[in-house]
Amino acid sequence: MLATEKQYVQWFENETLRHARWLSQSNQVPPARIVLVDDKTTADEAYRLACAGTSMLWYGDFHNARQLLQALTRRIEHSEQRKISKAANKQDKSAGSPHSDKSTAESLVTPKIIPNLFHQQRQAQAQRSRLLSRLLLKLDAGYISQLRRAPDVRAACTAAFGQLDERMDESCLLSFRDLQGALGAAGWRAKGVPIKPLNLSIFPHYGVFAPTRHEYVQLLLDAPLPDTCRVAFDIGTGTGLLAIILAQRGVKQIIATDLNPRALACASENFARLELSAVHLQQADLFPTDAPLANLLVCNPPWLPAKPTSPLEYAVYDANSAMLRGFLQGVKQHLAEQGEVWLILSDLAEHLQLRSRDELLGWFSDAGLAVKYRLDTQPKHGRSQDETDPLFAARSAEITSLWCLVPFDN
Ligand SMILES: C[S@@+](CC[C@H](N)C(=O)[O-])C[C@H]1O[C@@H](n2cnc3c(N)ncnc32)[C@H](O)[C@@H]1O
Repeated sequence: MLATEKQYVQWFENETLRHARWLSQSNQVPPARIVLVDDKTTADEAYRLACAGTSMLWYGDFHNARQLLQALTRRIEHSEQRKISKAANKQDKSAGSPHSDKSTAESLVTPKIIPNLFHQQRQAQAQRSRLLSRLLLKLDAGYISQLRRAPDVRAACTAAFGQLDERMDESCLLSFRDLQGALGAAGWRAKGVPIKPLNLSIFPHYGVFAPTRHEYVQLLLDAPLPDTCRVAFDIGTGTGLLAIILAQRGVKQIIATDLNPRALACASENFARLELSAVHLQQADLFPTDAPLANLLVCNPPWLPAKPTSPLEYAVYDANSAMLRGFLQGVKQHLAEQGEVWLILSDLAEHLQLRSRDELLGWFSDAGLAVKYRLDTQPKHGRSQDETDPLFAARSAEITSLWCLVPFDN
């Protein structure tokens, strides 16, 4: 996940030139301008510095840095909100409905407005990430923080960023935000994400799609298995969740693939914890090699056709629907006679006007596949109920489906 080329960063401390390894999970380039900040730095000063492109190396109390980050987040959100409302008003007016009595969310369901808002929101998120990433801390060799009241971050950082070269006494600079990401992931990995319908927990690793929103699990439990179901593939297994469901439902041989080595390590740990011997893992671009034909092909690709901007976004955004279309195109080559495909997909992309239903149906038929049936569910996660979200109209209308597809000639 880290850039394979090591990068270094330099800064001055009391006129002495210092340097350290640069770590950035969102592939931010090493900062060119760094000033030292501590507990005396106010949130307004920090916000001004961040907006001016200056990075701040924290030398104060660890917990105060967390508070400063929260204060910065509030300032950034405030400024984003103002920009988004201004843009929404402008677009609403240009769509000719200045005095409509519809709610803001309803009035935004106008061609072009929603996709524009989606892209604006993503740009705002990217800008937020850039600004927040300007608060930095230094960790000494072995990921040890010398900050006052700093927790032990060694295990979380090693799991997220890998082993640094301790023999070279390598210290590193990274953003507090990345450190918080590593600590959050370590928490999930330790506690697990409970999957209620299965009565078990899944333990995600850093950088692996965490099934915190798992409304689709029930769909996989409800769909009738094909009459013969000896071999199934789980394409893009992530934590291994779908393979686990298939194993629990009695499928004897499951081959789970993923491109991301972190996902394979994570799924392997989850399978071992549940003592599942039916599942075999393979690192593969979509379909496994040297495998028998499958009676069931299951895939939950990233749901939004948009370009990922960091390695952590690869499980959420699928540029040009490459994984979805690649999967559909490859299905017939890997499916046994009378086999079925279970595609898990939300229609959020349709509500955001990033893909149309006709386009999706066209991809099914181009791949020689017909819809046998579809199971739907409506997500109930927090964002789908947040009326202040500019994309509320789209999010609240979202349906997640299990599409059961079969070849035309079945
Ligand atoms: C949305 S996540 C789904 C994870 C898991 N199946 C689940 O439902 O929780 C998509 C997964 O597909 C993987 N992926 C993306 N492109 C892939 C490809 N070309 N081949 C194999 N896996 C891929 C990602 O690494 C990610 O783990």
